[in-house]
Amino acid sequence: MKRVDDFRLRFPGKDSKQEYVPIMIGGMGVDISTAELALEAARLGGIGHISDAMVQTVSDRRFKTRHVKEKLQQYKYNVTSSDKADVQFDLGRLAEATLMHIGKTMEAKRGDGLIFVNCMEKLTMNGSRETLRVRLNSALDAGIDGITLSAGLHLGSFALMQDHPRFRHARLGIIVSSARALQLFLRKNARLDRLPDYIIVEGPLAGGHLGFGLDDWMKYDLATLVGEVLGYLQSEHLDIPVIAAGGIFTGSDATHFMELGAAGVQVATRFTITHECGLPDRVKQEYFKAREEDIEVNGLSPTGYPMRMLKGSPGIGAGIRPNCEAYGYLLDDKGRCAYIDAYNREIALHPDAKKISVKDKTCLCTHMRNFDIWTCGQTTYRLKDTTVREPDGSYQLLSAEHVFRDYQYSTDNKILLPA
Ligand SMILES: Cc1cc2nc3c(=O)[nH]c(=O)nc-3n(C[C@H](O)[C@H](O)[C@H](O)COP(=O)(O)O)c2cc1C
Repeated sequence: MKRVDDFRLRFPGKDSKQEYVPIMIGGMGVDISTAELALEAARLGGIGHISDAMVQTVSDRRFKTRHVKEKLQQYKYNVTSSDKADVQFDLGRLAEATLMHIGKTMEAKRGDGLIFVNCMEKLTMNGSRETLRVRLNSALDAGIDGITLSAGLHLGSFALMQDHPRFRHARLGIIVSSARALQLFLRKNARLDRLPDYIIVEGPLAGGHLGFGLDDWMKYDLATLVGEVLGYLQSEHLDIPVIAAGGIFTGSDATHFMELGAAGVQVATRFTITHECGLPDRVKQEYFKAREEDIEVNGLSPTGYPMRMLKGSPGIGAGIRPNCEAYGYLLDDKGRCAYIDAYNREIALHPDAKKISVKDKTCLCTHMRNFDIWTCGQTTYRLKDTTVREPDGSYQLLSAEHVFRDYQYSTDNKILLPA
């Protein structure tokens, strides 16, 4: 019987002889997939992701910089205004924070694996093109092994990096949820003569934002999507590794996708309860405790994409004042965010209320920063079966190495419990 360790992942191009354990730990913003978690994946011969979501906040937390405080100071005059057009990111500071977060992570890398950064296009940052250009090029400057483009179609993202000396050497990949999205991407980028080095096909059971409709995600399944993408690549005579993601819970699940023709898997949910994951320990216990009925896909994210989360997330329904002067990562190019509109509507409806509740949108920057939106994969309710309980009733956290090795070596859908 085959197991993940019987397979190896290779990328096309000059390093095509280099082999990796075909397990990627997916990017989880905001700093849920920490440097420590990504470094473990690389040490074990696989691929880890950090995320550049809210990178200035992450830099402040990791390195005691003062980006957020100083941005808030600069735009304090605007806090009570609902027009956020003024609240621009300083591109120099954005580059500085990215260089530090990624550079320090790369300096600490050990082992034969790789570290990639997950870049979400939907972080439009009140100036989508220029901020994304800085994020991508700074990541390359910082020596990142690869960039995974996610949450968005990214039709113009490769072009934003085309003049960078590492554009043709760093590994660049894209997350898609359909063969159609891939086709659009390839068509749009044909003139650059630069194919993606890998394609992650993310199905409807993943955590974070989903590339499906709020009402139809349940009609899709990952195996079919992977098959469609493989078929499309074959018809175009393109040899690009396909990585399957979303709901892959055991080594046997992963092996199944590799037998279908995937070159590897991207997994995340099982690592949310590891020591190295950035969620606070009390939140990790909530993930363990979750039952299937505690998980929902909703439309609360201001990005417009459906998002999966635990229904008990404290950020759901909270009517806090938008914090765009400090954060502002979801402001569109006109300085607008769907949460600001929802918040203003509630304020207008309840002018005398001391506290309001906003039910249809959430202030995602603030709540992700504070770990109050508990985004998760659909298989989160199975996490309790991956560990043992302590005498006080809490669930024992696992090491990233334990979970990684379990994916790598397990057969028969078995899950290795901690000693
Ligand atoms: C807590 C959490 C946060 C996530 N955040 C992001 C993110 O910021 N960007 C992204 O592209 N994917 C994100 N994802 C998706 C993962 O990178 C991954 O593709 C997916 O969850 C894999 O499925 P699995 O969780 O069932 O293993 C997140 C997933 C989880 C569980």
